Amino acid sequence: MTEPAIKYRLIHEDKHTGARLGEIITPHGTYPTPMFMPVGTQASVKNISTRELKEMGAEFILGNTYHLWLRPGDELIAEAGGLHKFMNWDQPILTDSGGFQVFSLAGNRSIKEEGVTFKNHLNGDTMFLSPEKAMSIENNLGSDVMMSLDEAIPYFETYDYVKNSVERTSRWAERGLNAHRRPEDQGLFGIVQGAGFKSLRKQSAADLVSMDFPGYAVGGLSVGESKVEMNRVLDFTTPLLPADKPRYLMGVGSADSLIDGAMRGIDMFDCVLPTRIARKGTLMTHHGRLVVKNGKYKADFRPIDDECDCYVCQNYTRAYLRHLFNANELHGQNLASYHNLYFLLKMMEDLRTAIANDQVLEFREMVFAQYGFDQV
Ligand code: GUN
Ligand code: ZN
Repeated sequence: MTEPAIKYRLIHEDKHTGARLGEIITPHGTYPTPMFMPVGTQASVKNISTRELKEMGAEFILGNTYHLWLRPGDELIAEAGGLHKFMNWDQPILTDSGGFQVFSLAGNRSIKEEGVTFKNHLNGDTMFLSPEKAMSIENNLGSDVMMSLDEAIPYFETYDYVKNSVERTSRWAERGLNAHRRPEDQGLFGIVQGAGFKSLRKQSAADLVSMDFPGYAVGGLSVGESKVEMNRVLDFTTPLLPADKPRYLMGVGSADSLIDGAMRGIDMFDCVLPTRIARKGTLMTHHGRLVVKNGKYKADFRPIDDECDCYVCQNYTRAYLRHLFNANELHGQNLASYHNLYFLLKMMEDLRTAIANDQVLEFREMVFAQYGFDQV
């Protein structure tokens, strides 16, 4: 038996919550968890260079199967030597399978047992994505963690619809596992679905766990349901996943949800949120969100966040950022994106320290009070 490409080591469990400090071991190094992963959909974290990602302490970043398959093509990336080399990133990369994008971006999709037919959102061509095709694309990209093709469904579908979908997603996961050609240097994760139905989450997790993936994701959350609802699903879903494998909550990136997810045993998170809101001038701070375009910052020469020690907060003012956004100077998007990513990465580092000291509840209370979140 070959060693799995991805391994997890548990270091310490918080005495009062389900939060766990650990590390994930990959072909591109070992990194501490829980972690937040910046999203680089099209082989670029928007407005941020890989040099800056290293400087701010990023660990994993994401790439996307659907986008890179459509443009520039996974074969071109393989020819370039793989995604790491193509985009100049020598730390781990996780690629989402494209299922989510087919359902959110593509037009006229039709889902069958074999796979999903859809219209390419760039040029309207009819395309077909199967679990085997997703593996072949992800093998060409050469990511450290590949995701299996799942069906991403709206949260409020009927029980019967979700049951059929979960069963198909399990069959797709098995087909993906059989089509995976690089298990020695790429780890394939299964994705638990089941919307808000406990029995279906249970069925989905049991199916996937029996296939023995090196890691598991919880999908189908942060798609319009409330935070209370998301926490309820996590409360019964993460205990269904093996403790000796990493657990990844897909598409979640607000500071409160990162802490609430980690408290329920999640190790990895990703989200476009910090970079997306940065592009419009919204900044995450220790005192809540700051909309820097606001007129009241016109002559405000304080840093964005007086408690942040990032390069932007050490060297630039709110007034300068406001000016850049008002004048449509693209550098503003770079500075804002840098600060937001740094802010979340630093918060995860502080969370890891809190876990090591069995102080996750105190940490949560402090963060929620400071940032002004509702205490749910
Ligand atoms: N990104 C956010 N949620 C999901 C999900 O449920 N499935 C996949 N593949 N990607 C996601
Ligand atoms: Zn900062």
